[in-house]
Amino acid sequence: MQIAGNTFVVTGGASLIGSHVADQLLAAGAGEVVLLDNFSLGTPETVAHLEGDARVRLVRGDILRINDLYDAFKGATGVFSIAGFLTLPLSQNPSLGLAVNVEGQVNVFEAARYAGVKKVVFSSSIACYGEPESDALIDETFPANLVSYQPGSMLYSCSKLIGEALCKLYAQKHGIEAVALRYSTVYGERQHYRGVNALYIIQNYDRIVRGERPTLPGDGSEVHDYIHVADVARANVMAMASDASGEVFNVVSGVETTVKRITEILQEITGSSLEPLYEDDPTAVKATSSTSLRLSREKIGKAIGWEPQVCVEEGIARLVRWIVAQGR
Ligand SMILES: NC(=O)c1ccc[n+]([C@@H]2O[C@H](COP(=O)([O-])OP(=O)(O)OC[C@H]3O[C@@H](n4cnc5c(N)ncnc54)[C@H](O)[C@@H]3O)[C@@H](O)[C@H]2O)c1
Repeated sequence: MQIAGNTFVVTGGASLIGSHVADQLLAAGAGEVVLLDNFSLGTPETVAHLEGDARVRLVRGDILRINDLYDAFKGATGVFSIAGFLTLPLSQNPSLGLAVNVEGQVNVFEAARYAGVKKVVFSSSIACYGEPESDALIDETFPANLVSYQPGSMLYSCSKLIGEALCKLYAQKHGIEAVALRYSTVYGERQHYRGVNALYIIQNYDRIVRGERPTLPGDGSEVHDYIHVADVARANVMAMASDASGEVFNVVSGVETTVKRITEILQEITGSSLEPLYEDDPTAVKATSSTSLRLSREKIGKAIGWEPQVCVEEGIARLVRWIVAQGR
């Protein structure tokens, strides 16, 4: 599908990821970009920089109200289904979070079908794999291991698996092209405080700036796969432009980064010599807490040619430059 000249809707348009998808759609020459959000979590400031671009329409709408979607999807070629509750907000409000992630996703597909939308790109998560049991390379065929997952993560994971099943169902039954992208830990400019693993970056940066020691769980050897939001947005636009349908793709760096390394990068950038404090918070909502997380990005590379361009050192430097530019 051609991006240039066409109309796209981004649900969760005021989100971290949605705002970057909008940037890249506009850069690729999209004719119109409709940003639909109910601002329950994101704020209009996230997309304030797009004000004045005649191709952008910011719509206050709720994916739980299907009529809002019928209106917004009229004339759209593609929909980026990004609105959703991450593990943290979902744990705080399971009733609303599950409604948004499940019922809201059904509404997106129903409205897409009604409006004749050609393709939906759905924001899924590597949470679908659960807690990795071995240090095997995890590709899209890997079965979910949810047994040892915390309840909040389990609910989130199940809600994303339902979203993925809806992608396949609507592709098979109604011919809507649909792709699910499983992101690892997304971070970058316009970072929020809702992603459990991105908190190791943003909260520790805040601590360092306040002159406090960064804090880490265990001995700091817990690893995550950090993927910069610009790479995630590019994967979204490439997936929309591609012929892929009915597929699930990992959108990951393929690099394991310890949480200790995150604080070292922050120390290098800020010039801080504050040593980390190792402190476990038993009440913290956590996703994986493993010391091995080997994720494969081979499938998306072969299918649509996507690979990450921003390493974690550069990505965190970009995030810090953005925070500083905000005057925070
Ligand atoms: N950030 C990550 O690390 C990560 C990782 C894997 C998957 N994801 C998925 O990617 C998507 C975006 O993540 P993000 O970090 O940009 O999230 P975010 O919290 O910044 O954005 C979610 C957006 O959805 C909006 N929203 C919530 N309920 C809504 C409703 N009923 N109607 C309309 N809008 C609604 C919120 O206002 C917010 O702007 C989510 O679906 C998330 O599950 C994110």
